Amino acid sequence: MDKQVKRIGVLTSGGDAPGMNAAVRAVVRTAVGRGIDCVGIRRGWNGLINSDFFPMDASSVSHIIDKGGTMLYTARSMEFMEPAGRAKALATCKLLGLDGIVAIGGDGTFRGALALSRQAAEAGEHLQVVGIPATIDNDIGCSHYTIGFDTACNTAIECIDKLRDTMQSHERCSVVEVMGHRAGHLALTVGVACGATAVIVPEHPVDYEADLLEPIRRARLAGRTHFMIIVAEGVEGGAYSIGKVIEEATALDTRVTVLGHIQRGGSPSSRDRITATYMGYEAVRLLAEGKTCRVVALQGENYVDYDITEALQMTKSLDQHTYEVMRALTGVH
Ligand code: F6P
Repeated sequence: MDKQVKRIGVLTSGGDAPGMNAAVRAVVRTAVGRGIDCVGIRRGWNGLINSDFFPMDASSVSHIIDKGGTMLYTARSMEFMEPAGRAKALATCKLLGLDGIVAIGGDGTFRGALALSRQAAEAGEHLQVVGIPATIDNDIGCSHYTIGFDTACNTAIECIDKLRDTMQSHERCSVVEVMGHRAGHLALTVGVACGATAVIVPEHPVDYEADLLEPIRRARLAGRTHFMIIVAEGVEGGAYSIGKVIEEATALDTRVTVLGHIQRGGSPSSRDRITATYMGYEAVRLLAEGKTCRVVALQGENYVDYDITEALQMTKSLDQHTYEVMRALTGVH
């Protein structure tokens, strides 16, 4: 079985996430160890369309495990969404003799991999695809964890701790918007870790009185003179509208901070390096075993894999227990 796969491509696509480099490294080193050639594809699916690639060996990925961003660059490719774009990508795969592709990214990346694989099959070409979940949003249904989430949490926490110093001095209310796309996983985890006064997430409709103003009042009654509100970017109106509500209802001197892309940078945490390394290893193992259309995932402590179609249908809700813990702890001290 192992002998069938001779050469694979690896790419990163969509928003970058700390730990993508560690995943690329694991893919390349595992492949090389199995005698499989590896080709780096730059700028996501665009790299296949535009023949933007280079051969990789074990030394190509030296000293990248600790680096944020992605050495392969990344992009969101509109052209790849069309059959004509994918036909160009398939031509590159054929020219290079690629047996498989490891695509590192989020749901959009997996949809691209699936479309490419289907088009290859229709054309009678052999091309295996495996996805690795990497996004700071942690919003991939099939996996409890996505590469980059832990580092993004740590980055946001560090920034918020700094904000707290000045909010405390000025006795202000800080409203901080964190990323997360349409999900509140990042906001919830960061909010718990920062001891926020309130956390507002898109998964729960906001009752301004109960979820925002009352926690602030309770905190004030308990002696607090500064307040930290964490808002997920997916909340309608975002942090600015929440800031306005607070100022109008409480007259607190309020400042809004949108953390933005700083959350996507930085050296990956231990958790992200380790997860990326295991997932990169698993992806190559799956390809070498002849598997295709799989997504590597973490379920509890175990690395598993899912059919891409099934994975794309899976949804992930906010961790209810963490939400309850957050509710129990906010605004009461
Ligand atoms: O998916 C990762 C993410 O950082 C989201 O949290 C955010 O909504 C989006 O990407 C931002 O995308 P861009 O980098 O294109 O502005």
